[in-house]
Amino acid sequence: MGNHIGKPVMHPLILFASGRGSNVQAVIDYFSKEQKAFVALIVCNNPEAGVLEIASRHQIPVQLIDRKSFKEEAFVEVLKQYKPSLLVLAGFLWKVPESVVASFSGKIINIHPALLPKYGGKGMYGMHVHNAVVAANEKESGITIHFVNEHYDEGATIVQAQCKLLPEDSPEHLAEKIHKLEHYFFPRTIEFLLKEINIDID
Ligand code: GRF
Repeated sequence: MGNHIGKPVMHPLILFASGRGSNVQAVIDYFSKEQKAFVALIVCNNPEAGVLEIASRHQIPVQLIDRKSFKEEAFVEVLKQYKPSLLVLAGFLWKVPESVVASFSGKIINIHPALLPKYGGKGMYGMHVHNAVVAANEKESGITIHFVNEHYDEGATIVQAQCKLLPEDSPEHLAEKIHKLEHYFFPRTIEFLLKEINIDID
């Protein structure tokens, strides 16, 4: 772990987000108390995204990307500079390029708002997922936190958590239940991974 005597050793995290960023906020809040990790960089592909306000409020650097720069080797080099313990996809819709997967193998995780393998794959994000779950009259839904490989939503599952879906629940109501699960389990799963798989700090 290097020579960090007397200083708290904190894991740098890179968060990828392109939406409102409530999960990013949950991760920031959790680790501002726990002091085991910090958000070193937020990668975003949407200049209008709410997550950018969160980044500026917390003075977290942002890397804005477009489809071209995302795939360039220079982007991998930017990520490497932060020596991240984990790359965390928190509401990020683009498929991660192979060069990034290869450089950070076993260190990329995603959160999906359903119980994979159901309701996963291309096009299954946000309210599309919740609408489909409610339309299918499912009795439960939940979240899946999983490793990322080169296919959508197909890496090994780390954690799933369930919630009940009542006949009167609307997709919007289900979305609220799912966000509550996410905000609780995502930071704690990150903490667990940092400890459990012994990710070391350079
Ligand atoms: C979450 O529901 C997450 O599961 C999905 O995208 C959503 C992002 O929400 N991948 P937010 O931007 O964190 O509020």
